[in-house]
Amino acid sequence: MEVLLFTAFVIGASRGLGSALVEELLQRPDSRVIAGCRRLGASDDLDRLRKEHGDRLTEMRVDYADEASIARAGSACAELFHHLDLLVNCGAISTAEGLPAEASAGPVAELDGAALRTLFQTNVVGPVLACKTMLPLLRRAEAPVILNLSSIRASATEAQAGSIGYSVTKAAFNMASRKLAAEVRAEGIAVVSLHPGWMKTRMGGEAAPLYTSDVASDVMRTIHPRAMELTGRFVDTSGADVAW
Ligand SMILES: NC(=O)c1ccc[n+]([C@@H]2O[C@H](COP(=O)([O-])OP(=O)(O)OC[C@H]3O[C@@H](n4cnc5c(N)ncnc54)[C@H](OP(=O)(O)O)[C@@H]3O)[C@@H](O)[C@H]2O)c1
Repeated sequence: MEVLLFTAFVIGASRGLGSALVEELLQRPDSRVIAGCRRLGASDDLDRLRKEHGDRLTEMRVDYADEASIARAGSACAELFHHLDLLVNCGAISTAEGLPAEASAGPVAELDGAALRTLFQTNVVGPVLACKTMLPLLRRAEAPVILNLSSIRASATEAQAGSIGYSVTKAAFNMASRKLAAEVRAEGIAVVSLHPGWMKTRMGGEAAPLYTSDVASDVMRTIHPRAMELTGRFVDTSGADVAW
């Protein structure tokens, strides 16, 4: 009979906060982690973690822009694992590859439909479909959690000019998380939108004050004991509310 390990699936795990969350989760001796990434075998971070943790780490191809890859990952997980304790939607883009930053960020006069649609697919449609696909396995866990990475840029209260596509898509994803939280609350499934803070990553840049390893441990310390208290909310890494 299968040993019931704490099973987590992190999508957008190749680098940045995603790989730091994988590393943090692997610190739990009872865990196994599935790292969802667009290109298998292309992440130095995951290569190093696989050497350290062996088969407690599984890589699966998940590209939010390729809906069939989400469905395939769902089927593979259902075959391999009894349940899923945690789904983390961490992958996101702030600009569309191959197009000027202004095409998605603005000013408004520079916006481009194709760039905005790319951001919607990657930051909203893909992660929402990942939630849908993984729900049956999450339902089989004792205290399942969906952690959706958001951003202060999603806040209408804090809105400033710029980052239009990123802000709009993260705000839309916040609403999707809140809707899903309301739908599954009675089943004991928590859904949390979390702003991780400004981090040194490819997206955040070198000037950012926060290290992903610190953020990853803060996130896990906050989420795990308090998931049902935080469900349906938009919070920072300490669990404090961020203005919608
Ligand atoms: N950095 C910050 O200061 C900051 C602030 C607020 C919120 N956030 C949020 O925190 C999360 C992590 O950000 P980060 O700074 O770690 O970003 P990052 O360093 O740019 O990493 C982004 C990750 O998303 C993956 N990704 C991109 N497109 C994808 C797709 N189509 N399907 C699946 N995965 C995809 C990337 O994979 P590849 O390696 O294949 O490109 C990479 O693993 C994001 O949701 C972001 O919006 C970040």
